[in-house]
Amino acid sequence: MKKEVIKLLRKPLKDLKVEMTDEQIEQAIDFPPSPELGDYAFPCFFLAAKLKMSPDEIALKIREKIGNFPETEFSDVQTQGPYVNFFLNRKSFARQVVWDVITQKKNYGRSSSGNKKKAVVEFSSPNIAKPFGVGHLRSTIIGNSIANIFEFSGYKVVRMNYLGDWGAQFGRLLAGYHKFGREKSLEKNPVDYLMKIYVKTTPKKYDVPAREWFKRMEDGDRKALMLWKLFKGYTMDDFKKMYKLLKIKFDVYEGESNYNKKARELLQELKEKGIVKKSRGAYVIDLEKYGLGTAMIEKSDGTTLYATRDLAAAIDRYKRYKFDKMVYEVGQEQKLYFMQLFKIMEILGYKWAKNCVHADHGLYLDKNGKRFRTRKGKTIFLRSIFDETLELAKKEIKKRDGKISKKALEDRALKTAIAAIFYGDLKNNRSNNSIFNLKKFVSFEGDTGPYILYSYARASSIIKKIAVTEKFQVYELEDKELELVKKLSQFPEVVISAQQSLNPSLIANYTYQLAQAFNEFYHVCRVIGSQQETFRLALVQSFRQTLKNSMALLGIEVLEKM
Ligand code: ARG
Repeated sequence: MKKEVIKLLRKPLKDLKVEMTDEQIEQAIDFPPSPELGDYAFPCFFLAAKLKMSPDEIALKIREKIGNFPETEFSDVQTQGPYVNFFLNRKSFARQVVWDVITQKKNYGRSSSGNKKKAVVEFSSPNIAKPFGVGHLRSTIIGNSIANIFEFSGYKVVRMNYLGDWGAQFGRLLAGYHKFGREKSLEKNPVDYLMKIYVKTTPKKYDVPAREWFKRMEDGDRKALMLWKLFKGYTMDDFKKMYKLLKIKFDVYEGESNYNKKARELLQELKEKGIVKKSRGAYVIDLEKYGLGTAMIEKSDGTTLYATRDLAAAIDRYKRYKFDKMVYEVGQEQKLYFMQLFKIMEILGYKWAKNCVHADHGLYLDKNGKRFRTRKGKTIFLRSIFDETLELAKKEIKKRDGKISKKALEDRALKTAIAAIFYGDLKNNRSNNSIFNLKKFVSFEGDTGPYILYSYARASSIIKKIAVTEKFQVYELEDKELELVKKLSQFPEVVISAQQSLNPSLIANYTYQLAQAFNEFYHVCRVIGSQQETFRLALVQSFRQTLKNSMALLGIEVLEKM
């Protein structure tokens, strides 16, 4: 509906010689604080200096130039001091919005703004032979949502998981495993077992054998590679089970190991081009003049580094996908690292470097504001977090529904747990640190995933009683009805903003507001048996559809019953 307001403003502004794009006009439009002031307002202060008139005069001028307005869309356009206020024709507005939602169904909110351009979204990217930590969980949840949002905005998306499956840490594992490892124990609980070995090999005396083993890997030694493959295989099986449970899909799995050779070739090229310089036996790229320090790309023993492989990987990805955008969803602690990486690509002359972005995320903190860790001081294992959430969800569900069958309980608990964790994360701006508080996440009240699921189920129970018809009749709207309609109408704009700012929290916050608007509406407006029954049923249905669409963008499935 904002579009209609923009349409009315375009010509008057042009006549006044004010150059504004539609987007700028859109940004200038306000939502008045109370209904007597209209549904939209255009404030004129910012034009005063340019037009050498008072804001009040400008408002009057604009109103005069608007002349007659389409009565199907507006009931009035008035000035009030420095504002031009627009009053919607509530009935036709409501009819239009509800009609759009119930006819577009799962496509409501979808746009083609991406024009089928290609976006590679890299996320999750855990390290092999190490536990899947909370940092990777954040990347998984946020990256998945960003990929969904891009898809919904008309991009062709490649979901990529870039595994940390190469690097010096494997030297330690190989050295340790060679010394005291046993396949039987590995098989039973691969990630825990490898972690144990890793910890056992941290003492200094393992430094030398660790380096030797990693060198053997880089040189293609068969025995070394065989062990490495074994570790990777077992760990991957474990990770994949987790992804399946969380319903996270990838189009491509790749990893640092794919770029070991290419990284060496790249190094050669860098040396020939004189981009690198030697520093204490290692090779570095000096980025001091950009304020980015120096980046090491080859160690003194000739092995490659994380950065070298990342560079080779980026170049290869561009060759393969010709992406228009590449998003790296990785923790904030790698901020400088990615700035260096992108700068090096630019120095190498890759024009697409400007299309690479680091979508960072902050830390999870515990209730005391400290970095989230287990008692033993290690990062919490994802598995244990998830199991704990499931237990909490089951308790809540049983409290509400004592007669639920075992199978239904499992299913409902699983979806509730996913909603709790995903929403608990996504409601925060990703770059901020956020408090990880499972008890709060799982609560059915407040700004939580389960509260939103519950609102949806509530709406479903109404629809179940009586069928929705497309031939609904609209009467004068009550305030709470109008507010719900307005919220519904905002969904497409919110998706676009979330895509442009790589910010799923906009969708999450919107979803919560939508659920609130519905609950307030339902609190005061009778649906079944009221005179407005056909419209209100269609409105409830529109709410369900829009909520379902927006939850899907967060990676959360709704529940018909709670
Ligand atoms: N495996 C890395 C880690 O856990 C994250 C990889 C991020 N992606 C990248 N292209 N560097 O820290």
